[in-house]
Amino acid sequence: MRGLYTTTAIATAAMMTMSGAALADDVEVLHWWTSGGEAAALNVLKEDLQTQGIGWLDMPVAGGGGEGAMTVLRARVTAGDAPTAVQMLGFDILDWAAEGALGNLDSVAAAEGWDAVVPAALQNFAKYDGHWVSAPVNVHSTNWVWANKAILDELGLAQPKTWEEFVAALQAAKDAGYTALAHGGQPWQDATVFDSIVIGAGGPEFYKRAFIDLDPAALNSPEMVEAFTRMETLRGFVDDNFSGRDWNLASAMVINKEAAFQIMGDWAKGEFLRAEKVPGTDFLCFRVPGSEGSVTFNADQFAMFKVSEGAVASQEAMASAIMSPDFQIAFNTVKGSVPARTDVPGDQFDACGQQGIAELAAAAEGGTLLGSMAHGHANPAAVKNAIYDVVTAHFNGEYDATAAAEELANAVASAQ
Ligand code: BGC
Repeated sequence: MRGLYTTTAIATAAMMTMSGAALADDVEVLHWWTSGGEAAALNVLKEDLQTQGIGWLDMPVAGGGGEGAMTVLRARVTAGDAPTAVQMLGFDILDWAAEGALGNLDSVAAAEGWDAVVPAALQNFAKYDGHWVSAPVNVHSTNWVWANKAILDELGLAQPKTWEEFVAALQAAKDAGYTALAHGGQPWQDATVFDSIVIGAGGPEFYKRAFIDLDPAALNSPEMVEAFTRMETLRGFVDDNFSGRDWNLASAMVINKEAAFQIMGDWAKGEFLRAEKVPGTDFLCFRVPGSEGSVTFNADQFAMFKVSEGAVASQEAMASAIMSPDFQIAFNTVKGSVPARTDVPGDQFDACGQQGIAELAAAAEGGTLLGSMAHGHANPAAVKNAIYDVVTAHFNGEYDATAAAEELANAVASAQ
């Protein structure tokens, strides 16, 4: 490893001597796309930039929701060494912009007309003080179930349409000896499940009051107690080894017919596609029963940090590449997400992708497009992390449902 590092360092030094310009064009990209499906999508971006002569320095930090990546980022910025571009979610972008750390993409945004094609819900996080500070690469949503179709067929189960039907299907899978719910016990994954469960228990308006308005009367309420009770029901359907498992390994359990269902954002589809599984034939995608009609979204964006002048040109070229309609199709069909522009045709997307595109538009129209709490689009990191703590402690049996709702209201109040 050390030898390899040295060789790379020598090669880099040689390149520097040969061509300062080539080195200045490199982008160093901090991201958390480390699973097989995510790496495949990332390659679409790397290759796109390569064709434009922009080099790529990879800075991966694993962990959904980006908590690990954000810790590394803070250290890098504190050391005066910000990466060129950083994968970032929602409120984190606004927090960094408020610190004055981000650059300005206004000229490329104006030249390419981003204002007219990027959905308003994304612009709320891509712009700060009226200026573009990041380029949105996709729109994901968290309230999805991924199901192994062979297991459902074998057990004679139809796609569950209500919470009660979902619980009955989980029970049938468990009774047949399968892991009913593939899950990884990591705080961000518990919180991802909670996004859908809160909508199911209280409806979209309730979700908004609780997670976006942070209304204490919603956080500690009968609806929230019901949400925690539903989490306890789900807890009864995970296997003994769930603790700490990575999300993509949970997806693999569904892919390999060890588990019937996974509740996870649509990045899970990237894993199924990479395993050459076909929606409708090998697996089913549907909204978490009880949450239909709502979309809890999170959009990955590349936030551009203030960097030297030479790197600004590369940032602009990267942002322009990301926003091109062709790239949005090539990337998002692999990633499992849908385009971050409203003018991209959906015909090259599979059935789950087309459903996602249609539901995103309908939810935006109907006022049920809601920022994902788990993925940084409902409230700032301090509040989000406080919610994570309570949800995970409850999932692991530290509180009952009533105490958890009380703790949730307390934790959110002290985090603000
Ligand atoms: C990101 C996705 C990513 C997932 C799991 C989410 O926070 O938005 O792009 O695939 O985490 O790593």
